[in-house]
Amino acid sequence: MKSSTSKKPEAKPTSESINWYDHPEWYEAGFLKETPSEARFLEDVFRKYVPFPVERILEAGCGSGRLVREMARRGYAVTGMDLNQPALDYCEKTLKKLGCRAVLSKQDMTSFHFDQPFDAAFNAINTFRHLETESAAVSHIKCIAKHLRPGGVFVLSLHIVPNDGELWGTESWSVRTPEYNIKYSLSVQSVDLEKRLETLKMTMKVSIGDDVKKLTDLLRLRLYDVEQLKELLAKIKSLELVGVYDFWFDISDPCRLSKKSCDVVLVLKKKA
Ligand SMILES: C[S@@+](CC[C@H](N)C(=O)[O-])C[C@H]1O[C@@H](n2cnc3c(N)ncnc32)[C@H](O)[C@@H]1O
Repeated sequence: MKSSTSKKPEAKPTSESINWYDHPEWYEAGFLKETPSEARFLEDVFRKYVPFPVERILEAGCGSGRLVREMARRGYAVTGMDLNQPALDYCEKTLKKLGCRAVLSKQDMTSFHFDQPFDAAFNAINTFRHLETESAAVSHIKCIAKHLRPGGVFVLSLHIVPNDGELWGTESWSVRTPEYNIKYSLSVQSVDLEKRLETLKMTMKVSIGDDVKKLTDLLRLRLYDVEQLKELLAKIKSLELVGVYDFWFDISDPCRLSKKSCDVVLVLKKKA
């Protein structure tokens, strides 16, 4: 006889290899919690370092637009740039829902062009590390510098490898909303020290009711240690490093670039 307490068999997830960024809603759900503190920090940076009121701002690699929306909601004239069309479409749709506006542009962050300069620009959570070569990284920062008003700032956040640091790591977290439950996991699959590239396996296990999807992507990111980052910055003569912070995004708690640095937020100012 069948027991009345028998459990329903757990749904077997369907597995798929995907581009994470083609699923902007699920992707950004994993990062929404940090968004208000990142936006507040950007405003603190503008107040502390920019000698004029900041109005026009640019996000490079804006993706689904969590920061574009938050900054537009706070009254800034925001431009978001990305190469991923589903992410830009999602950003447009969610801006409309909020009743906010922003300029969205499909351009490469190493070679973009806008007619008007910006008061400030930013590049968040390791987006910069998508640029796999030194020349791409230099082109990006030079292009940003070209588009900044003198006195304007570029806020660049990235993970760097501390000297005593672990190259092989894993990270997992989950997010629950009324519609879905998502488990995220990131793990380093391989490291090529010569090319300074790491390959990350990124998995999202998305449960919507009984439907479970397991989506996996492999991402290649450029590696930096503190010396490599300093060498890179030295190549950009038009920007000066004026502040260093960590991922606590606390303007009252600046730090220094050191061999122990791990997650850094750099404030680079366009020279007059
Ligand atoms: C880690 S996501 C970050 C998205 C967003 N900045 C955020 O903080 O949620 C990186 C984004 O960079 C974009 N990207 C990668 N390489 C790019 C390039 N060369 N030019 C423009 N966007 C790029 C990807 O499409 C993706 O949307």
